[in-house]
Amino acid sequence: MAELLTKYMGLELKNPVVVAASALSSKVDNIVRAEEAGAGALVIRSLFEEQIRHEIGQLDEALSQGAESYAEALSYFPSISHGEAKEHLFWVERSRSATQMPLIGSLNAVSQGNWVKYAKQLADTGVDGLELNYYSVEADMQRSGADVEKAMLDIVASVRQEVSLPIAVKISPFYTSVGHIIKQLEDIGVNGVVMFNRFLQPEIDPEREEVLHEMTYSTSAEMRVPLRWVGLLYGRTKLDMASNTGIMEARDVVKCLLAGACVAQVASTLFQNGIGHVASLVRGVEEWMVAHNYGNISEFRGKLSQAKFEGDPVMYERAQYLDFLMSRQRWVKS
Ligand SMILES: Cc1cc2nc3c(=O)[nH]c(=O)nc-3n(C[C@H](O)[C@H](O)[C@H](O)COP(=O)(O)O)c2cc1C
Repeated sequence: MAELLTKYMGLELKNPVVVAASALSSKVDNIVRAEEAGAGALVIRSLFEEQIRHEIGQLDEALSQGAESYAEALSYFPSISHGEAKEHLFWVERSRSATQMPLIGSLNAVSQGNWVKYAKQLADTGVDGLELNYYSVEADMQRSGADVEKAMLDIVASVRQEVSLPIAVKISPFYTSVGHIIKQLEDIGVNGVVMFNRFLQPEIDPEREEVLHEMTYSTSAEMRVPLRWVGLLYGRTKLDMASNTGIMEARDVVKCLLAGACVAQVASTLFQNGIGHVASLVRGVEEWMVAHNYGNISEFRGKLSQAKFEGDPVMYERAQYLDFLMSRQRWVKS
């Protein structure tokens, strides 16, 4: 038997397998099944301000169509207004009362004021922590990287000021200096960082000459990016790191822990293998620990980070360059 307890965002988790925010958590039943399968925690899919705005627009349109058909309809219709985040919050509350495991609410808003407003509303549902799902695709050529970073940090700071729950920020891997961003988040007083958000990229169909938006699941090759950054930053940041993207099997979870993550967040693998796969991830980590004579996670967490790794520390920073050199040598010899 091995002890799988871990700490993430200051929360005690019974194991490091965390269900990432996704459509899986749209149903309370699925959340209960994840708990039954033994998840350490679950991040509920994001409350998206954009979706609320879209629904408000649709409702206004539907009401104004009715009102235009009959002049008297303006007074005839009872005044109907969109409940904004109420539906989402109601179902987060239901999920909270249906489960015992740590639940983390997730938010993606647009304006700074609404980030704070919705974060406070989510905090009131009884969730144990908040994940700020911050992403934007910055295509404005007048906006500098510094402007973009400042906007994000201002939002996080204003949420931090108003919400006392543990907060993690889910960031993109596309910052010029990932370490510096994480340092600034640390200074603001957040508790964790999720590395990284995965953006759905548009696809082009050359036959039909169309741009497509297809949902694709991640592949295990994609976990190398978070693995590198977690491995580089372990021991340098006070933030609890969650590794996310491309984690499919128990051995992937083990790799994240060896690099220094507190938890591994999974989504795609659960869509592909079912929610019950959580149980095999947890079991597989425990089996690995027993096989390697580890009694608890702290005995090996971060063991292969850049700070602790006894091999060449350059592997984390220049792996690409080294691989290139080595493959050239092989090529020259053959
Ligand atoms: C169908 C689906 C819905 C998702 N919805 C959300 C969401 O609401 N909020 C969020 O922060 N991430 C969302 N994600 C992203 C996941 O949380 C995760 O970051 C990403 O899928 C990478 O992890 P994976 O490789 O295990 O899939 C979603 C992913 C999928 C596949």
